[in-house]
Amino acid sequence: MIAGSKIFEVYESQEGKRRQLYTANLITGKKVYGERLVVENGVEYREWDAFKSKLAASILKGSPAIFIRKNDVVLYLGSASGTTVSHVSDIVGDEGAIFAVDVAPRVVRDLIFLSYQRENILPIMADAKKVNELRERISAVDAVYQDVAQKSQVDIFLRNVSLFLKNGGYALLAVKARSIDVTKQPKQIFREVKEKLEKSLTIIDYRELEPFQKDHCMFICKKKQN
Ligand SMILES: C[S@@+](CC[C@H](N)C(=O)[O-])C[C@H]1O[C@@H](n2cnc3c(N)ncnc32)[C@H](O)[C@@H]1O
Repeated sequence: MIAGSKIFEVYESQEGKRRQLYTANLITGKKVYGERLVVENGVEYREWDAFKSKLAASILKGSPAIFIRKNDVVLYLGSASGTTVSHVSDIVGDEGAIFAVDVAPRVVRDLIFLSYQRENILPIMADAKKVNELRERISAVDAVYQDVAQKSQVDIFLRNVSLFLKNGGYALLAVKARSIDVTKQPKQIFREVKEKLEKSLTIIDYRELEPFQKDHCMFICKKKQN
């Protein structure tokens, strides 16, 4: 049986020992990445695979909230073909919007096709490091989500949060330790990232994402009020 979870707009079922997450499908009958569709009590849900989405992994690892809600405007950096973006699209709904940024033309092409179905996704082909290019195309946002697997991922995150996130807004950073430094232990990298983030943001939640995502963690942060 699928029921509401403690996360707004996210649903779950218990299958034996396995907890399965879902979002309510904004576009009935349409799958995005081969996920299973399940109809219960007249609502169509899309299974949300934590092995394919770090945001789902963070929820299953115990994050008590993700701070992305119905009607929010979200800046999503590193959207790839839209796997996690599609679930964020279900969460923010028709009245919300996602600026979905990726630097790779091939995945942006997929995103553009996805945005024909899901009109709350606004694909942008850009390098998240080049904030001046982004500045011309996006507005202030309620939440920032970043998953770019770059050496400079923390600097990219802090710069974008500083420029585009509203005061008091929330920002989620998926960290891939191996992209920052392959020679260091992931836990050491995560500690260094934490110290860097704490200088300008309040860290609300931290989760390591194994077994769903090896050598990854998620930080959920709040931007301080000025
Ligand atoms: C791990 S994938 C993202 C997966 C996606 N977040 C999901 O859960 O469905 C990382 C993405 O970041 C993009 N990327 C890497 N560097 C970037 C940059 N500087 N600006 C924008 N996108 C970048 C890559 O092209 C790739 O599609």
